[in-house]
Amino acid sequence: MTAADTAHDSIRAVLWQGDHLRLLDQRLLPMQEQYLDCRSADDVTKAIRDLAVRGAPAIGIAAAWGVVLAAQVGRDELPAASARLRAARPTAVNLMWALDRMQRAIDAGADLAALTREAQAIQDEDLAANRHMGELGAALIGPGSGVLTHCNTGSLATAGFGTALGVIRAGVAAGRIARVFAGETRPWLQGARLTMWELLRDGIDATLIADSAASHLMKSGQVQWVIVGADRIAANGDTANKIGTYQLAISARHHGVRFMVVAPTSTIDLATARGEDIEIELRTPDELLGHAGTRSVVAGAKAWNPVFDVTPASLIDAIVTERGAVERPDVARMSTLLGAR
Ligand code: MRU
Repeated sequence: MTAADTAHDSIRAVLWQGDHLRLLDQRLLPMQEQYLDCRSADDVTKAIRDLAVRGAPAIGIAAAWGVVLAAQVGRDELPAASARLRAARPTAVNLMWALDRMQRAIDAGADLAALTREAQAIQDEDLAANRHMGELGAALIGPGSGVLTHCNTGSLATAGFGTALGVIRAGVAAGRIARVFAGETRPWLQGARLTMWELLRDGIDATLIADSAASHLMKSGQVQWVIVGADRIAANGDTANKIGTYQLAISARHHGVRFMVVAPTSTIDLATARGEDIEIELRTPDELLGHAGTRSVVAGAKAWNPVFDVTPASLIDAIVTERGAVERPDVARMSTLLGAR
């Protein structure tokens, strides 16, 4: 581990306590730092569905611990508990990936201790992947660059360090990134509430923008890269990520700003050929019609609330994974990357 690995990296949101799972409740940040204790698989399912834990890798890790909690009750619990976990959210494929991996361990006869080791391995491997991706992604960025990120892809969204935010952590530590901008990420405000908290907590200077200020920012010349995470990457490199990512990619191409996706290979779904085949989660219109429980839109108004969109591979300059970076991704380059899988 290098100094750059540990610099600016103090937050952990998914904590196995030996007999239960403790989650830093992301619904309450940054105003309250409160932990939620999950003592059953269904507690974990609810935490995923309600966004107490969120971010594709963190969802997968939490689900793996959910399987361990079900196994504590007994083997008979496992099929139904796993099915409920799997249905908690549809877009982030790390959820299904982690549950499939736990299922393979169950099928191989793993007992509670072995399932606990498997969940811990999923969590530990994610942290190691993030640190490696941080180095790989930062190496693509020229010294003194400005970057714009979207949503929250940091320690809160992973086992630690983060994906896109891991590249930003590493890039800042290496002196390559001089300016960090974060979009507020309406409607749930992952950027404003979570990314700004995480960056400031870890001593990284960052500037918040309204999502709608992104094109104006790019035109000003202050950012050279947009760096985002992913919830599911199709076999051809099309990438589902937080709603608003697609318009950032369009604007980046228009302004000559480069566009980087950072995600572990657990986010790549070879069973999904292209972005159009990815299920996009629709959440309640209430997330748009009010804020923090207070209605802000006229009674009777309707709202459409898709919470992810798909950026076509043709708008992506690089996909950075723990196995390497794929520049100008397409189906051939993605399958070369994953050849050894
Ligand atoms: O709805 P969320 O907050 O779970 O969405 C999170 C994102 O879209 C992230 O960008 C993605 O999961 C990558 S997190 C490393």
